[in-house]
Amino acid sequence: MLTEVTATRYVTPLREGGSLPGIVEADDLGTYVMKFTGAGQGRKTLVAEVICGQLARRLGLRVPELVTLQLDPVIGLSEPDQEVQELLKASGGLNLGMDFLPGSLGFDPLAYEVDPREAGKVVWFDAVINNVDRSWRNPNMLVWHGDLWLIDHGATMIWHHNWPGAQASAAKPYDASDHALAPFAPDVAAAAAELAPLVTRELLEEVAADVPDEWLVDEPGFGATDALRAAYVEALLPRAATIHERITLGPRTERRASQPPGWLAERLAPRPQAVEKDRTETGKDSTT
Ligand SMILES: Nc1ncnc2c1ncn2[C@@H]1O[C@H](COP(=O)(O)OP(=O)(O)OP(=O)(O)O)[C@@H](O)[C@H]1O
Ligand SMILES: [Mg+2]
Repeated sequence: MLTEVTATRYVTPLREGGSLPGIVEADDLGTYVMKFTGAGQGRKTLVAEVICGQLARRLGLRVPELVTLQLDPVIGLSEPDQEVQELLKASGGLNLGMDFLPGSLGFDPLAYEVDPREAGKVVWFDAVINNVDRSWRNPNMLVWHGDLWLIDHGATMIWHHNWPGAQASAAKPYDASDHALAPFAPDVAAAAAELAPLVTRELLEEVAADVPDEWLVDEPGFGATDALRAAYVEALLPRAATIHERITLGPRTERRASQPPGWLAERLAPRPQAVEKDRTETGKDSTT
């Protein structure tokens, strides 16, 4: 079971995140990134965060500690933003918390070197969980105290959106050509040799047991929540054993800067007058 704490103060929304996660303080004096059950992405996103985050941690990959966070929406009453107010109101009860890494920076492939072994582990792990959200456009990795940390495992395990087709879906290949770590020569074979044997039925049952019951109840086709937990195990177990044979890395690509969010891109783009002035001063076209 994950440790359960209670949110005591809503600090600020994290606007970079599509699901509008928030920073909160809790009664254990910790600071957490809170992901809300009431967010439009739905509670399956939180189930995926727990199963994949806990699996990664058990395999020795760096993911900040996860907790469950009790929320009384009353703590957000003075929050001026209506969108945040509504999110808090829709999320009373148990939510997900991830330890906040203060001073961490978003992963920048041009500024941070990843060795092929570590890159291989991350790509292999993302293939196992079918993560579609670690591309160079949106790397969902942080650099903290010189180390790489993985966050945001909400968009994974696509098969949990259609359980009748889960086995077939979980047998599909993984296209890693857009992966943020594809340019770092990921040694996927070494990663699979080291990590695949660790992904046992027992380990998967333990990480599935960390998902709170209330995020699993009433799933169509499943009576008890334990039956649904078992379905996650049955999908991941065979995939972990063989997915390394079905990972496409594509041709070796150059490292590309991840894309800034729209509002920042606009500010970074050279203003037309500035380019014009530059041309007249230097006598040449600075855009070429
Ligand atoms: N544990 C953490 N410590 C510090 N900053 C974090 C942490 N988790 C998330 N963040 C910051 O918050 C942003 C949003 O988090 P995250 O990607 O998990 O949210 P999301 O709503 O799932 O986003 P997405 O739009 O990628 O689906 C991250 O890009 C990062 O800047
Ligand atoms: Mg994200």
